[in-house]
Amino acid sequence: METGSDYLQNALERKSDEIELSLRPSGFDAFAGQGKTIERLKVVVGAAKKRQEPLNHILFHGPPGLGKTTLAFILANEMGAQIRVTSGPVIEKASDLAGLLTNLQEGDILFIDEIHRISRTVEEFLYSAMEDFRIDIMIDQGPNARSVRLNVPRFTLIGATTRTGLLTSPLRSRFGLQTRLDYYTRPELISIVRRSCGLLNVPIDKFGADEIARRSRGTPRIVNNLIRFVRDYAQERGTGMIDRQTAISALELLEIDENGLDEMDKRMLRVMAENYKGGPVGINTVAVAVNEEPDTLEEVHEPYLIQEGYIARTPQGRILTDKAWKILGYSGMASEQGTLF
Ligand SMILES: Nc1ncnc2c1ncn2[C@@H]1O[C@H](COP(=O)(O)OP(=O)(O)OP(=O)(O)O)[C@@H](O)[C@H]1O
Ligand SMILES: [Mg+2]
Repeated sequence: METGSDYLQNALERKSDEIELSLRPSGFDAFAGQGKTIERLKVVVGAAKKRQEPLNHILFHGPPGLGKTTLAFILANEMGAQIRVTSGPVIEKASDLAGLLTNLQEGDILFIDEIHRISRTVEEFLYSAMEDFRIDIMIDQGPNARSVRLNVPRFTLIGATTRTGLLTSPLRSRFGLQTRLDYYTRPELISIVRRSCGLLNVPIDKFGADEIARRSRGTPRIVNNLIRFVRDYAQERGTGMIDRQTAISALELLEIDENGLDEMDKRMLRVMAENYKGGPVGINTVAVAVNEEPDTLEEVHEPYLIQEGYIARTPQGRILTDKAWKILGYSGMASEQGTLF
């Protein structure tokens, strides 16, 4: 059976279906939060429009479901540009990239999702395309082999990645603007809940909105997924209105963790408590124990656990905080708890 935290994990992976698309903000005005990133984008959009030039290349990084793809589409709207969407693993060969690039028109946006998964050979071709708007590809083999230069229209590359650590620095440095998306604050999440409910015509009060926001792991995609279930629940078991009690009962039925943690977040905390007495412990050690890539823990899970104050970083490694011990069911001071094991 799917547990609540699995539900969160799955909700994160279930992206871009019809409802998600209908809830996606299409302009800066409807996009809540990410203040710094939005400011930066407004600056580059405003300036590019005044100069009547395409945008410089932009890289979005940050955990899943926070709005990287949404922002790429917003930029296309704001610039009045066409957007082509592809992703790192799909571009297997230099010729795939050449095909994509030569089909672009001046000012188009090429959005490459999961850009960290692009192969090294393709990446090299991307450098000259980004920098000089041309690529030199080899055709034929052996004695007939020759290099052909293709000109590429001035385009804007928007890259998105959850794993910025896996990008090579030459690639990273070719983006004119790199900006990180962070987890959303409670008030921002509440405003996203209210906006989505408005679009879906679901009545909700401020207590109901707060309960959903609290359990959404700082992530708009999870907000929207939780709303769908709570909406069904309110319709079937209540009056259709999402108030505090309806939200709580619905989310309890889903076994959503009341702190909004997903399964991997909780496994990390448990391993740190049970195997390492709350730390300090290195991320690689934790990764082996929970059977996950250290990069994923560091870029997807740890930021949320740190932001919410469950884990702290010290020069010796990660340690659990009192707050983490508490939700794991141990009360008292972290330092004393360590000796329990
Ligand atoms: N700031 C926001 N305000 C309102 N809704 C948002 C916001 N950011 C994201 N969303 C909603 O969350 C959904 C997920 O966002 P998006 O697909 O852009 O995330 P992502 O960062 O590209 O995730 P992934 O890394 O998994 O590709 C969107 O469809 C949109 O409905
Ligand atoms: Mg995306």
